[in-house]
Amino acid sequence: MRASRSYHNGAMTIAQATPEAIADAAAALRRGELVAFPTETVYGLGGDATNPRAVAAIFEAKGRPRFNPLIVHVPDVAAAARLGRLTGHGERLAAALWPGPLTLVLQRQKDCPIADLATAGLATLAVRVPAHPIAQALLAKAAVPLAGPSANRSGHVSPTIAAHVAADLGDRVAMILDGGATAVGLESTVVDVTGDAPVILRRGGVTRETIARVAGMPVEVATGAADRPASPGMLARHYAPATLLRLDAKEVHDGEALLAFGADLPIHRGPVINLSASGDLTEAAANLFAALRTLDAAGATAIAAMPIPDTGLGEAINDRLRRAATPS
Ligand code: TXA
Ligand code: MG
Repeated sequence: MRASRSYHNGAMTIAQATPEAIADAAAALRRGELVAFPTETVYGLGGDATNPRAVAAIFEAKGRPRFNPLIVHVPDVAAAARLGRLTGHGERLAAALWPGPLTLVLQRQKDCPIADLATAGLATLAVRVPAHPIAQALLAKAAVPLAGPSANRSGHVSPTIAAHVAADLGDRVAMILDGGATAVGLESTVVDVTGDAPVILRRGGVTRETIARVAGMPVEVATGAADRPASPGMLARHYAPATLLRLDAKEVHDGEALLAFGADLPIHRGPVINLSASGDLTEAAANLFAALRTLDAAGATAIAAMPIPDTGLGEAINDRLRRAATPS
């Protein structure tokens, strides 16, 4: 890495994702070091998924409970099919929606080289083919599957810009590849395709309607009790700011910050961020996590969140808001 293309802030390094920086990052990954990289959903904390020490370093850096398995990123459908069994509706979803904001839970292949620690010892594996050109370039150069949870400390809000990663994990990574703000802004939709029909384990960047249409069959959304989540990562409180979050707010109290949506805002003099003044759910999803971080730092007594329509991407946005509002 060269000083002209990167800057150092303490031990932390944010690098413009030039071809040279991507090559440096790939070399670091092959040495077992960690690199944060942009995907179209959120930034990931990447490590060589076949290297148990690199995977252990990911858990350690995130402060993540060991039972929570990681998503493995690969460059294309063929690479995914070498790691996990891809058939039937799973194959249809992969063909239509990869690369993209979709993660499929598959049965591991017998010779799957992914470290057991990455899958928390499960017989299944979560795989994703990201669409972001920097993620694609990094996967090509590194030539190993990359374990990549969201690049935040466990339980924090997922990062949608490089500076969010630096704030949470700056001293834990060899490099943060900067690709600007992520386009989708919510994590991938996690779909279990090991059964007779797809089951959504985590709502995300691909809507339930799209999954059902492509699979050609009805799709369930797993609920899972809070203490026994359907997807091991779906703890009730997750994606959380430190400031109390008040949902479904129709008015704003003194001292509160406002997380707004739409054109029709309650009267309010304090900090306000509008997720989308035009009421566009795609724009709101892209702005959500950065807005939560900014309002969390505003020193408000609480964040009052206006109602968001529970359709399309609104289902994933409301899922994240409910989790962020669950008391710790
Ligand atoms: O958009 C995303 O998915 C981002 C980017 C970086 O790819 N990654 C991400 O990873 O959000 P992470 O580790 O924060 O979330 C992974 C989710 C968790 O809810 C985890 O429990 C679930 O996937 N998961 C992983 N392996 C699984 C498995 N074998 N069975 C069921 N759920 C699994
Ligand atoms: Mg996460």
